[in-house]
Amino acid sequence: MEDTRQAAWWKEMAVYQIWPRSFCDGNGDGVGDLWGVLQKLDYIQKLGADAIWFSPLYPSPNADYGYDIADYKDISPDYGDLELFKEVLKQAHARGMKVFMDLVINHTSDEHAWFKASQESKGSPYHDYYYWRPGRRPGKAPNNWKSVFEGGAWEFSEKLQEYYLHVFAKKQPDLNMRNPAVREEVKSVMRFWLALGVDGFREDVITYIAKREGLPNGFPLPIGTGLEHYTSLPAVKDYLREFKDEVLAPAGAFTVGEAPMMTPTLAKEYITEGAGQLLNMMFHFQHMEADCFLTDWIPMPFRLKKLKRAFTRWQTELRGVAWNALYLENHDHPRIISRYGSEKYRVESGKMLAAAYLLQSGTPFIYQGQELGMTNQRLDSLEQFKDVVTFNNAKLFAKLGIKSERFLRIANRRSRENGRSPMQWSAAPNAGFCQGEPWFRVNPNYTEINAEAAEADTFSLLHWYRRMLAFRKGNPLVLYGEYTEHYKNSKHIYCYSRRREGSRLLVVCAFSEAPQRFCAPLGFDLLHATQLFGNYAPQIVQSNQFITRPYECRVYEWKDE
Ligand code: GLC
Repeated sequence: MEDTRQAAWWKEMAVYQIWPRSFCDGNGDGVGDLWGVLQKLDYIQKLGADAIWFSPLYPSPNADYGYDIADYKDISPDYGDLELFKEVLKQAHARGMKVFMDLVINHTSDEHAWFKASQESKGSPYHDYYYWRPGRRPGKAPNNWKSVFEGGAWEFSEKLQEYYLHVFAKKQPDLNMRNPAVREEVKSVMRFWLALGVDGFREDVITYIAKREGLPNGFPLPIGTGLEHYTSLPAVKDYLREFKDEVLAPAGAFTVGEAPMMTPTLAKEYITEGAGQLLNMMFHFQHMEADCFLTDWIPMPFRLKKLKRAFTRWQTELRGVAWNALYLENHDHPRIISRYGSEKYRVESGKMLAAAYLLQSGTPFIYQGQELGMTNQRLDSLEQFKDVVTFNNAKLFAKLGIKSERFLRIANRRSRENGRSPMQWSAAPNAGFCQGEPWFRVNPNYTEINAEAAEADTFSLLHWYRRMLAFRKGNPLVLYGEYTEHYKNSKHIYCYSRRREGSRLLVVCAFSEAPQRFCAPLGFDLLHATQLFGNYAPQIVQSNQFITRPYECRVYEWKDE
């Protein structure tokens, strides 16, 4: 089947995600910032990224490190100011790179001027910007919803004698998107950044922005009770349509929406190409659940078949209809090598994981440090952690009788702080991330794992990412070729091919330290192929098969004419 989809710049790009606090400190205060970003634009360009997505840069009290926004139209003084941001934008554009902002509109910070005004009196025009409700009876919250991050979903105000809703942390009150004035504010925020020259948005938990009329009780769960009443309700699409028609489409802006619990069937309602399309693409979570149950915090043994099912489902169900967003890491998850790969075979498994996703059909996102093979950290005590989710889980797990030492072990494997340790630039003190005291502990393995060392070693993961992204760029086979999975039942090997006109690609990824016999699928003659990538020295192939080495990966190409 030939692909009939339209080519588009956003399909052909690769995006680098910056979590600014831990990227690079340019002013010596131990916190990453835009001065640091300026120093590293060449590095990002050299990687082969065509765009940067900035996790929130706005002023924020950092209850959720920027995802609690106190002012949508400014830059946090931690990171610089608007003038500096304009310089970053100009310099990124000068290098041919687009810039996307994180748009967090499900909630604001409780320190946002709107929320403060909403709290002043029930008569304030801002009161209805949020979900303020009286209790069911004195001392009883308006419904049984529980927050995803922090206890109950309602917080009481003595002054108003009402509760406000927060699906996330207490300091993240939910905006009432039903109120047209709130939607006008959102559009005004979008216009503000687009007018500065920003090229699009990553839209935070975008499928949560509508809440069920009447806010009914939810099915009781340990956390997140009520989520069936605020996940992907029909009104989300109405709001997105309004944003798109009035602001985003006329500006030609790119959008990727973050969507927990998303399935391909549902995603197609948002991202099917054509007149009804509401977002360019979507971040789903299904492939991030191969070693856990629903959340990273409920660990399960890694199951390759679960990962492959998710990969293939999204590849095949979206084919010819919509476009995939491909990622293995971001600021919300532990490091992928420590999860699906092997720290023992760090470079080998890192290369294998890169091939497993970068050559699929879709737009790849690379999270800072992923290209260096940064791994999880091991903190010594709960006090060293930084995240509201970890602290909340410490309480929840304690209630379940889990001892603090055991919790520490779980947190060291499963917390999202693993993805937030400072970027490892060099073997200099603090990994070259900053001069002074870093805001968060640097992973001690920086002496070995760092960008400078990776640059000097042509066999490094960094060079591998560069080569893979260069190979993908402008390559119609990788961009638009048909995807087929082989050996679906294998518990150790992920194998897929891509085909377009006369060209074919076969990607073989061993998710295993132990040797596995790999026989090429019918019709793929390895003797007559060119091996484009391999994370070990090439070996002679006999009888169209080979025995894999730990976490081995090979990419073969055929040009049939
Ligand atoms: C998204 C963000 C995450 C944040 C949450 C609440 O999932 O990626 O970092 O904590 O939304 O805004």
